[in-house]
Parts: sequence; structure tokens; C-alpha cells
Amino acid sequence: MDETGAQPRTDSDLVTVNALNVYHGQLCAIADVSLRVGEGEVLAIIGANGAGKSTLLRTIAGLHQSRSGSIYFRGENISRLAAHRRARRGISLVPEGRRLFRSLTLEENLKVGAHRAAPGPFSVARIYELFPWMAERRHHKVLQFSGGEQQAVAIGRALVANPRVLLLDEVSLGLAPIVVEKIYEVIPEIVAHGVGVMLVEQDVAQGLRVATRVHCLLEGRTSLEGAPAQFSAHEIERAYFGSDLRQATSETEPS
Ligand SMILES: Nc1ncnc2c1ncn2[C@@H]1O[C@H](COP(=O)(O)OP(=O)(O)O)[C@@H](O)[C@H]1O
Ligand SMILES: [Mg+2]
Repeated sequence: MDETGAQPRTDSDLVTVNALNVYHGQLCAIADVSLRVGEGEVLAIIGANGAGKSTLLRTIAGLHQSRSGSIYFRGENISRLAAHRRARRGISLVPEGRRLFRSLTLEENLKVGAHRAAPGPFSVARIYELFPWMAERRHHKVLQFSGGEQQAVAIGRALVANPRVLLLDEVSLGLAPIVVEKIYEVIPEIVAHGVGVMLVEQDVAQGLRVATRVHCLLEGRTSLEGAPAQFSAHEIERAYFGSDLRQATSETEPS
């Protein structure tokens, strides 16, 4: 630790967040959160509704300013860098609710993502290999697509920029399990190229299945972090819901 409490960066670190505080007006949405994401790692951010997960991802992407603390990307302090500059450095956010250009075709959406893309493994053609159904429907407008299909296009659009870090906010929300499975199938391919993934997942079991590490937020604070296998279901539940649930259950459970 240095004098600011920052963890020293290791060579494989992509994103390092130190003692981050983010406010929405008076409300402290992220309180003293520190984390790191390395190459080829999948960090699952879990936590109840309103815990601050989206605020955390959006702050890393540069869409919210932090009040204090720092965000480093590959050793560079990007805390005050504009969102588009962070995107150019390789931080790509797939926001909650997808935000595609709905009146454009699938291929046009992918090409928007590929505009000024960094060199790397992901091209529009590669996305069609990952999601074969897309090639056949490349000239269809995305407003005709199902929620799951639109989510896959949103991920494809983020990937063609060849990001170094992919931030996925609730990609499985509202989708059928079979659709979610198809989307999650591409994550090993993504991390195999050294991309770091931070994913927010309401479905904790799903998040833990793909994660190399988990970070739980409770009312904006870190309530648990480490490798998923380190924790019992009870510990995760407690970190997710807070101590109220523990008190409530300890009254009904014999000790
Ligand atoms: N733009 C905003 N303005 C005011 N409050 C916000 C805004 N975005 C989020 N919040 C509040 O910040 C807290 C964290 O929200 P959010 O990051 O969206 O949580 P999560 O993604 O975990 O559900 C919540 O209390 C939410 O109501
Ligand atoms: Mg959210």
C-alpha cells in the first residue's frame, strides 16, 4: 500500500480502483470501493437492487465522476478522463438496457462499434462466427429482434472495438435461461484473448459460475470479495442482503 491506501499495480492489472467514492447528489452510491481486474479475468459484481453496481461500472467507463479515490487503467490514472477517451483506451461498457440503434440493421450496429476499432481478434466476421444466427439476419433492423438477440448484438458491438476491458451490466436481465446460456457461452472466448471482464449479474449463481473472482456490494460498500469457491452460500447471501437477514433467520433457526 502507498500513502493513499492504493494497492500496488501488478503487470497483469488492467483496471485498478482505489478507495472510490461516488455520489448522486447527497446519496453516496459507492463508498470506499477498491478492486482490480486482470487480463483474462472475470470479476462478477453482485449485490441487491440499488447496491451501486451500475454506478460502479458507469464510473469506470467515465459516465459518472467520482468524488474521491482513483481509477487506473494499465498504470495510467484515468479518473478524470472523458468517457470517449476511456473507450479509445479499450474500456467498453454494455449498459443496462442495451441501447442499440434500433432503426439500423444488425450489421450497421456492429459497424458502429467497429468504427475506429483497435486492432485485435474481434471483427464483424468473427462475431458472425461466434453468433451464427447473426450472419443470416445481418440486414434486418434490430428493432425486429428479441431481447436476447438484441443483447447479443450489444455485446457484439462492444467486442468489435477490441476492448481490453468489457463491462457488462445485467446482460441476462429479463431473458430466458436458454438465451442467457448462449450469451454466456462466448465469455471463455473473450477472456482467452486476455480481455478482462467485469460483469454485473442479478442471477448470483450465473455470475459465480463464470467468475474467477466475485465482489459483492451492499449499499455501496464492499461486503465480500474473493474467489467464488472461498465462500459458502450462506456467506454470499449475508454479504448480498446484509445482516438484517441473518438476524431474521437466526431467530427462526435453532443454533
Ligand atoms: N442518476 C442517478 N441519480 C440519482 N440517484 C441515482 C442515480 N443512479 C443511481 N442512483 C441511486 O444510486 C444507488 C445505486 O444505484 P445503481 O448504481 O443503479 O444500483 P444497482 O445497479 O446496483 O441496482 C441507488 O440508490 C439509486 O437509486
Ligand atoms: Mg444496475
